[in-house]
Amino acid sequence: MNTCQPWDPQCYDRKLALRLESVRALFILHPPYPDPYAPSDFDLTDNSIARLPIVPVLDPVRTARPSPSATGGTTVINAKFYGRNDRLGAAPWSTNFAAASSLRHIRQLGIDVSSGSRIASGRRTSIDRKKQRSGERGVCALFGMESGRPKDVGILAIDIYFPPSCVQQEALEAHDGASKGKYTIGLGQDCMAFCTEVEDVISMSLTVVTSLLKKYQIDPKQIGRLEVGSETVIDKSKSIKTWIMQIFEVHLFGKLVEYGNTDVEGVDSTNACYGGTAALFNCVNWVESSSWDGRYGLVVCTDSAVYAEGPARPTGGAAAIAMLIGPNAPFAFESKYRGTHMSHVYDFYKPNLASEYPVVDGKLSQTCYLMALDACYNLYCSKFEKFEGKQFSISDSDYFVFHSPYNKLVQKSFARLYFNDFLRNTSAVEKDAKEKLEPFSNLIGDESYQSRDLEKVSQQVAKTLYDAKVQPSTLLPKQLGNMYTASLYAAFASVIHNKHKTLVGQRIVMFSYGSGLTSTMFSFKLQEGQHPFSLPNIASILNVSEKLERRHVVPPEKFVETLKLMEHRYGAKDFETSRDTSLLTPGTFYLMKVDSMYRRHYARKDA
Ligand code: ACO
Repeated sequence: MNTCQPWDPQCYDRKLALRLESVRALFILHPPYPDPYAPSDFDLTDNSIARLPIVPVLDPVRTARPSPSATGGTTVINAKFYGRNDRLGAAPWSTNFAAASSLRHIRQLGIDVSSGSRIASGRRTSIDRKKQRSGERGVCALFGMESGRPKDVGILAIDIYFPPSCVQQEALEAHDGASKGKYTIGLGQDCMAFCTEVEDVISMSLTVVTSLLKKYQIDPKQIGRLEVGSETVIDKSKSIKTWIMQIFEVHLFGKLVEYGNTDVEGVDSTNACYGGTAALFNCVNWVESSSWDGRYGLVVCTDSAVYAEGPARPTGGAAAIAMLIGPNAPFAFESKYRGTHMSHVYDFYKPNLASEYPVVDGKLSQTCYLMALDACYNLYCSKFEKFEGKQFSISDSDYFVFHSPYNKLVQKSFARLYFNDFLRNTSAVEKDAKEKLEPFSNLIGDESYQSRDLEKVSQQVAKTLYDAKVQPSTLLPKQLGNMYTASLYAAFASVIHNKHKTLVGQRIVMFSYGSGLTSTMFSFKLQEGQHPFSLPNIASILNVSEKLERRHVVPPEKFVETLKLMEHRYGAKDFETSRDTSLLTPGTFYLMKVDSMYRRHYARKDA
């Protein structure tokens, strides 16, 4: 029910217009006499409105209130209606008349109003304060048919930011004295992004959020929930989300606005690389819940992955991803098919609060990852079978996107899914592959994770499918390295970049893993999406090729020197950075100083 006062400009923005995300059709009713404010008063260029079929209702009929039977079980919200003289119910037309007219048009449009639907109604009044004071109010009404629950909730838009500095894995290999090919072939990595002293997870988040809002023309007031996933600890109490709130308190371009938006739920989620997925689930669940107020959710995954000198160092990386969440999404969650596996293990953790570096049991983390993958895949398959009545196999998904600490583990992971299909005896496994995998069918427990032969054979038989279903997701993770929480979504962005022209109607299965351990397999069903949330537009805004091309390759010595400086600065106070923004593109946020009270100060390079 719309309860706000008619003179409240938020009435239109918050209670009605944004609910239009789930509205299927829009009816504009204007009174049968000239009204200076209606219906041109509506901003029909608003993204959420522009996509709707618009039906002008010019002739409100004075009929009785439609009964539930007449409306096919539809609930008519009897919103308060203010007429020209502000006398409730005294207007020459009312919501009920309009609802009756609207219903006729709804049916003419062939929209099903039989179940779980309701008529969302509201009105916008002139916000001309002078006229309000004099008691004169121009009123017109908007009616939309809103489905009972938002449909196809998922990712509407995505943007990525990564630092401009990177080091080539081939050069790092030589610098570290590793055998040639160890990082490039052995780990499967090409390049690694890293933050210099002027960037961190907060500046990257500020940059990616402002970029997404600007490119999709989303007013910060349209965001109702902001969830951050990160495992890069800057402060043990203050969430990264609170730093991002600066964008919402002031307007996008630093100009103070009359109505800032501090009504934004959500905080940070932390559990190794899984925090971003937890943040995403929180936002999706909110939009699907009864506490959803019609606005968008926003998810930010931001991490700087750095390791102490040693074998794990080449598996670092850095990036921030922002994702806009709402209904009618081109990447719609298949909420029923979710497989989760969580357990207690010490594979990778950060117990030393004086250091940014993790404690890693590399081999154990690989095994834990693959065990979690098996558990999630089997759960995912059984849920799919329960709802679809048929076996799931890798042939039922067009793409598989994995959390990507380094590419070799992704290759092993897909081979593992293939081996699972073989064990479950699905038709997806070819005869020849069955024969090759047969000798491993009796391996139990840990044996199957430690068998080098099984690893080799399963990767070999899965190779063709890997090239088709996984390889398109590997571009950014191979170029940027492990971005922890952002890693899975950077792989997802790579699929959009590479395949946006053919994605409609396809399925993407995602596997999220966070050490410690937490893991989930889930999937998206892809639809065209309406502008600006169309697949080609999302790919064009991501602008992956250009972002990769404008990076600056630094020698390994400079990379190591930077990490040394960051070790020194970690947890420190009272210092200023060089403020060298020469490599940053205009509009990028950067760290200027940390003052004597540990307060961090950021600025934005002129856009
Ligand atoms: N040419 C080609 N391949 C080579 C060469 C070479 N010259 N030298 C080694 N290799 C291969 C190895 O055979 C091995 O391949 P395999 O996995 O198919 O057997 C691979 O390169 C790696 O070599 P290892 O000797 O196993 O590497 P190492 O033990 O030194 O380190 C590890 C690898 C454990 C992944 C390390 O980088 C690490 O600890 N990383 C961080 C932990 C991690 O990322 N875990 C994953 C999940 S948790 C998370 O996301 C943080």
